[in-house]
Amino acid sequence: MSVLNLKDITKKYGELAAVDGISLDMERGKVLSLLGPSGCGKTTTLRIIAGFTSPDTGTVEIAGKDVGHLRPYERNVGLLFQDYALFPHMTVAENVAYGMRHRGTPTSEITTRVLRMLSLVQLTGMEARRPHQLSGGQQQRVALARALAIDPQILLLDEPLSALDAKLRLELRLELKEILRSVGATTIVVTHDQEEALTLGDEVVVMNAGKIAQRGTPTQIYEAPADKFVAEFVGRSNWFHASKRSQSTDGLTSYVADDGLEIRTRASRPDSEGGVDLCVRPEDIELVDGTAPESAPSPEHNVLAGVVLDVAPLGADVHVVIELPGKSRLLAIRKNVGRGSEILPGQSVRALFSASDVLVFQR
Ligand SMILES: Nc1ncnc2c1ncn2[C@@H]1O[C@H](COP(=O)(O)OP(=O)(O)OP(=O)(O)O)[C@@H](O)[C@H]1O
Ligand SMILES: [Mg+2]
Repeated sequence: MSVLNLKDITKKYGELAAVDGISLDMERGKVLSLLGPSGCGKTTTLRIIAGFTSPDTGTVEIAGKDVGHLRPYERNVGLLFQDYALFPHMTVAENVAYGMRHRGTPTSEITTRVLRMLSLVQLTGMEARRPHQLSGGQQQRVALARALAIDPQILLLDEPLSALDAKLRLELRLELKEILRSVGATTIVVTHDQEEALTLGDEVVVMNAGKIAQRGTPTQIYEAPADKFVAEFVGRSNWFHASKRSQSTDGLTSYVADDGLEIRTRASRPDSEGGVDLCVRPEDIELVDGTAPESAPSPEHNVLAGVVLDVAPLGADVHVVIELPGKSRLLAIRKNVGRGSEILPGQSVRALFSASDVLVFQR
């Protein structure tokens, strides 16, 4: 049975539909990432589930019961707000204990659990401090501890890691994943960081302008994006706009991009006025020396000649920007395998990618 079921939820502010007909169900113990650009309705969706905002239409069911008439504290939902909203006059320990006290948990149990929660978020020893004596990241971790402390039926985390610096954010992300797994909390975690969404979620829901653009496993979202918005929003991508399509042979379709480049694809779309957008992921592009005799690994491969504009070694990956004839640019990401594989700006290269790695979207 699903632990959470949203049916056709809509919320308007004036003319603007902040949430526009969302339906969503969730199984117990799963972690769902809600990913989307600023203003797409993520926080509004969480507030509706938690009972802080009432929807104009639609229903919220928790464990099979319509909770529309229940106040937030009656819903057994743990919410970590985007601005974490700690009680400023209370100590860290009192903040974490707040929800448990409200629910009449025995004092001895509260004390033990507060200490355990604080150790979970690496804040042991800070029990007596007040929020203004903590950094932003520390405050956010207190808020996480507070949300987890009540052992909620559904845990809603709104940008739980956004106030942390990059290193701590990465550490806490893994910790958060372990914590969620170990307590088996049914969780929706909101983020506009795609890497965070793909790492934390068993499933990812991508939102765009109040609607669900796609729901799927991280792999499905990345490898089979439902539309151009999802393809562009998740992962890096190279785009070609093509308006003409030539006859297909061997199950391949050739498109001629606006800059004259011919690109072969496995997928095809019917011709339309607006043409199509072709997308190639940078890690699907292989680079070879442009001075070597030309040979494509197979007829299925696209070969584009260009000149290296920029090489950026970013840890495990190297980002190579290539200028193609017609001045369009292509980003290729290769593994940083160390010495002997350097590519230098100014060098001529050929970019190879398979027709099956080209995604085709209708304009
Ligand atoms: N109380 C409100 N009154 C009027 N408009 C609102 C209100 N709350 C949200 N909105 C609008 O609804 C839209 C969705 O807001 P929401 O806070 O849900 O976005 P979000 O996806 O959480 O964005 P972010 O990533 O920036 O936090 C925005 O355009 C916002 O301005
Ligand atoms: Mg928000």
